[in-house]
Amino acid sequence: LTYLYQDRFVSKEELQISPEDRGYYFGDGVYEVFRVYHGRLYEAAAHFERWEKSAAALRIPLPLPSGELTGRLEELIRINGLSEGTVYMQVTRGAAPRSHPFPADTKPILMAYTTEARRPLNTMKEGISAVTMEDIRWLRCDLKTLNLLPNVLAKQHAVDQGAGDVILHRNGTVTECSASNIMIVKDGAVITHPANHLILHGITRAVVLRLAQGLGLSVRETPFTLKELRAADEVFITGTTVEVTPVISVDGVPVADGRPGEITRRLQNEFEKTIS
Ligand code: PDD
Repeated sequence: LTYLYQDRFVSKEELQISPEDRGYYFGDGVYEVFRVYHGRLYEAAAHFERWEKSAAALRIPLPLPSGELTGRLEELIRINGLSEGTVYMQVTRGAAPRSHPFPADTKPILMAYTTEARRPLNTMKEGISAVTMEDIRWLRCDLKTLNLLPNVLAKQHAVDQGAGDVILHRNGTVTECSASNIMIVKDGAVITHPANHLILHGITRAVVLRLAQGLGLSVRETPFTLKELRAADEVFITGTTVEVTPVISVDGVPVADGRPGEITRRLQNEFEKTIS
């Protein structure tokens, strides 16, 4: 497996990260996960736009402009012979003796690699169970930073409960999941948390909202409560790795009749068309 390290292609053995890397000390960096379908990056422009926004907010200068980086990732996919899977890419502020302020001579460290992964067809068909949990994250969840400890703890909570994922809420207002966004359907309308600082602005979320509009569905980007979640006709999550996955139970209680909903199915079908 070949990695991208700065602007070079290297083996894992050649990829040397300093123990003083600020990603290691502070989670001081940002990342992206791209989906690869048929050997091509899905929604690349949107991912790079978010990548640039996250890096700019942390004031991490990017070692390569996005145009060039797109070409490097495409070459990485080709070198690794990837057809279906993901590309993981991250940049940290680089290595320096441990001290909180930015180091004077920052040299950001970029790396990316590919992973083969099949589409989660089984859970997309059958749906998943979810459990709810308080969202204890900071107030810039729109930035895709390496600081994922709350997300890790949330996902582990789901695993401990034997659930597929965790639904996060702030004081009863549903935000998103550990690594995906969440939408509900009520009386034919698709409802999801607005893209503000409390959630990650998911690329899949944006695609699905466009598809819902294309189907003539009413789309409302407005916060909804745990109570509304429990009274929803349908619940589903969206994300690079989960695509559109139905949620069929919340805290052990079935969503509606406990089967994936009709509008969720239609959105899955529409999504399918965008990747072929
Ligand atoms: N996670 N919300 C959170 C907290 C996420 O981490 C992600 C993605 C999403 C969905 O965003 P998108 O549709 O752009 O993938 C929402 C990636 C896949 C991860 O951390 O592995």
